[in-house]
Amino acid sequence: MTTLIKSINDIKNVLAKSDRSVGLVPTMGALHAGHISLIKACRNDCKTAIAYIFVNPLQFGPNEDFKKYPRHLENDFKVCEEHEIDFVFAPDEKEIYPENINCETITPPPDLANILCGKTRANHFSGVATVIKRFLNIIQPDYVYFGEKDLQQLYIIRWLTKEFKISTFVRACPIIRESNGLACSSRNVYLTEEEKEIASNLYKSLGLAKKNIRSGIFTIKKAILESLIFLSQFPKIKMEYFEARDKENLDDVDDTKTKGFYFLLAAKIGSVRLIDNIEL
Ligand code: PAJ
Repeated sequence: MTTLIKSINDIKNVLAKSDRSVGLVPTMGALHAGHISLIKACRNDCKTAIAYIFVNPLQFGPNEDFKKYPRHLENDFKVCEEHEIDFVFAPDEKEIYPENINCETITPPPDLANILCGKTRANHFSGVATVIKRFLNIIQPDYVYFGEKDLQQLYIIRWLTKEFKISTFVRACPIIRESNGLACSSRNVYLTEEEKEIASNLYKSLGLAKKNIRSGIFTIKKAILESLIFLSQFPKIKMEYFEARDKENLDDVDDTKTKGFYFLLAAKIGSVRLIDNIEL
């Protein structure tokens, strides 16, 4: 049976009586196949499985889509029920950030937070780290699940648990894609069918870069250039970045490297911002 819980007191009370291990899947709702893969992994690994649904205002910029972010709690609850989650924790904003308590703001290191998406989304990763620390502190799970789609976020969370000596184990889950290759995202609902088809070229461009490195003819810079040329056929795609980053720590990589790194990209189609990555 799945129970909906809204207050911190209630979740703490039920957890005090629940079996370990406890697993947590953090989400902002509008659940799709990507989220479901995390939910399934959590259900499979842990005795007590919790999904949280909280659209975190701290991680949205002033011109971003906080107000219109899709909110479908009833449907999300059904999805969690279908996948046998024990508790759906969906607190209000004032429960998580009460006015009378000064919630500690976390500032991740600039070499992780100010690169890639952090260049255009100032304070985004500080908002993510702050909310995740808050939820980890409330739930104290044994395992917490994150998707590799938001790769930079995953590295920030690994930093967070290490920095604050949080004993929760971070589990990374592979990217789930729509049938045309487009990475599943809550924001895909903003795209028309035609835009979704165009957006699928982002993943194709990552595959092309990977193939060009594997072929041994191209260095990283040349492979990125080839992929950007491929993407330039689609004027609706506005590239924000297409970079290679080290698997170890998301540092820059030597141009001649052929494995142990990721290609990562961000692009806009209209006002919809999409990210994706591929590992080599
Ligand atoms: P949200 O975008 O709802 O994503 C919740 C989790 O689902 C993240 O770990 C994300 O990486 C994962 N996810 C999303 N799309 C995926 C896909 N196509 N394949 C695999 N996993 C996918 O990320 C957030 O929310 C927030 O920043 C949050 C961590 C909840 C903090 O507010």
